[in-house]
Amino acid sequence: MAANQQHSSRPCLGYGLGLRKEHYDAVLKNRPEVDWFEIISENYMVDGGKPLDYLNRIREHYPMVMHGVSMSIGSIEPLNPDYLKRLKALIERVQPEWFSDHLCWTGVNGVNLHDLMPLPYTEEAIQHVADRVSRVQDYMGRQMLLENVSSYVSYSDSQMSEWEFLREVAERADCLILLDINNIYVSAHNHRLDPQQYLQAIPVERVYQFHLAGHSHEQNLIIDTHDHPIADPVFELYATAVQRFGRVSTMIERDDHIPPLDELLQELEQVRRIGERELKQQVA
Ligand SMILES: [Fe+2]
Repeated sequence: MAANQQHSSRPCLGYGLGLRKEHYDAVLKNRPEVDWFEIISENYMVDGGKPLDYLNRIREHYPMVMHGVSMSIGSIEPLNPDYLKRLKALIERVQPEWFSDHLCWTGVNGVNLHDLMPLPYTEEAIQHVADRVSRVQDYMGRQMLLENVSSYVSYSDSQMSEWEFLREVAERADCLILLDINNIYVSAHNHRLDPQQYLQAIPVERVYQFHLAGHSHEQNLIIDTHDHPIADPVFELYATAVQRFGRVSTMIERDDHIPPLDELLQELEQVRRIGERELKQQVA
């Protein structure tokens, strides 16, 4: 299928933001022109309290998707049934367009690293992760999106590239993909890879969402800090991603040095301009 065709089965929400507590009141008061919000699932997997109250009120006005950070789908520890139960309850409450987590592991032997660790890119790991994704999808009764993480280390055991690994897991588990464009840029820089080759290897029809974010430079590495505006090379990579994947729900993640909402809205306008420009060129 040509990249510029809209995939009939793929919903597109437009241009969104990560919902952050610093913006709760401004969102409710001003109802900004954001097409949708992504929430961090773990912030709302509770029985009550203020965040849940805000979530319920904001959900009345905006489409939402849910994004998790601690499923640890790649770990060798068993999936946490309590976590999955609470996640399912939140899905039932929020009725999101979809839910996602990362293609990574976050801990072992009861220790949570509070970091998204990459996996070895091996056949054994593909089968392991794909089986677990299938089990999660069966339990939730819907497909999930897996996100590519940024990385700073690699394994000597790896037998293939990151993009081959991601593609294989997605196809074997029949899951969807959340492509983080900033993470591709960061990992490509840190491991001296070609980000265009990465994009070209990902199956168009599985990509339901893009993440965009800022990063920081530290000596020879780029760190995925989400504390800056989106960098120009990431905007450029995003433009080529739109050329390949067509119209995909796109959002900005900002997790530190969170600016006033208006500032993020301006950045989102820049994203929208670039996305729509690339889509128009496809049609022309
Ligand atoms: Fe991301």
